[in-house]
Amino acid sequence: MMGDELVCNQYFGLFVTFALLFLPVHPTTDQSDVGALEILYNALNDPVQLTGWKSNGGDPCGESWKGISCSGTAVTSIQIPGLGLSGTLGYGLSGLLSLITLDVSGNNLHDIIPYQLPPNTTFLNLANNNFSGNLPYSISGMTSLNYLNASHNSLSQSIGDLFTNLQDLSALYGLDSSL
Ligand SMILES: *[C@@H]1O[C@H](CO)[C@@H](O)[C@H](O)[C@H]1NC(C)=O
Ligand SMILES: *[C@@H]1O[C@H](CO)[C@@H](O)[C@H](O)[C@H]1NC(C)=O
Ligand SMILES: *[C@@H]1O[C@H](CO)[C@@H](O)[C@H](O)[C@H]1NC(C)=O
Repeated sequence: MMGDELVCNQYFGLFVTFALLFLPVHPTTDQSDVGALEILYNALNDPVQLTGWKSNGGDPCGESWKGISCSGTAVTSIQIPGLGLSGTLGYGLSGLLSLITLDVSGNNLHDIIPYQLPPNTTFLNLANNNFSGNLPYSISGMTSLNYLNASHNSLSQSIGDLFTNLQDLSALYGLDSSL
């Protein structure tokens, strides 16, 4: 009898495994990306302009969040320029490992540009805000970056200062940090 029960349990286990395999796949966004957007949204003071965004959870890739594009379950683009946003960038952007494009230009964002930037971004537009302080050193480690615009802010350091010691500066283009 014990043996039969064991066999039964094994079949049940197989059944559960198959049932899980064939459940419909929801386009659930990577949880690390959801968490990073949550931090950003809070740092921007939960603005109504960002329609669809949630301060807690949600599915940015499955729902239509203002300015968000995805590839599969990963957030690849945040384009929220000129929306009259205030607040800061927060400290969660480094969690967006698949982010290629970040455009927050033409808002009224302030405080420093955080050290925690998305590491694989190629296009970073921070222009026309009110960022202050120095550019974070992490920018020089963003090896995929090929467009960076930090002009028209209140920065106390130019991109040239940051890249003085980097030989591959000429490999970068579209750099604009006019103060
Ligand atoms: C993005 O950057 C992280 C950390 O720098 C790295 O481990 C990861 O492989 C990169 N991902 C992609 C998709 O390039
Ligand atoms: C920009 O930030 C500075 C402080 O860093 C502040 O004095 C100034 O009023 C801000 N400008 C605007 C347009 O918000
Ligand atoms: C950087 O942004 C400023 C302000 O939006 C713009 O005038 C300038 O053309 C941009 N620079 C580049 C290289 O795209």
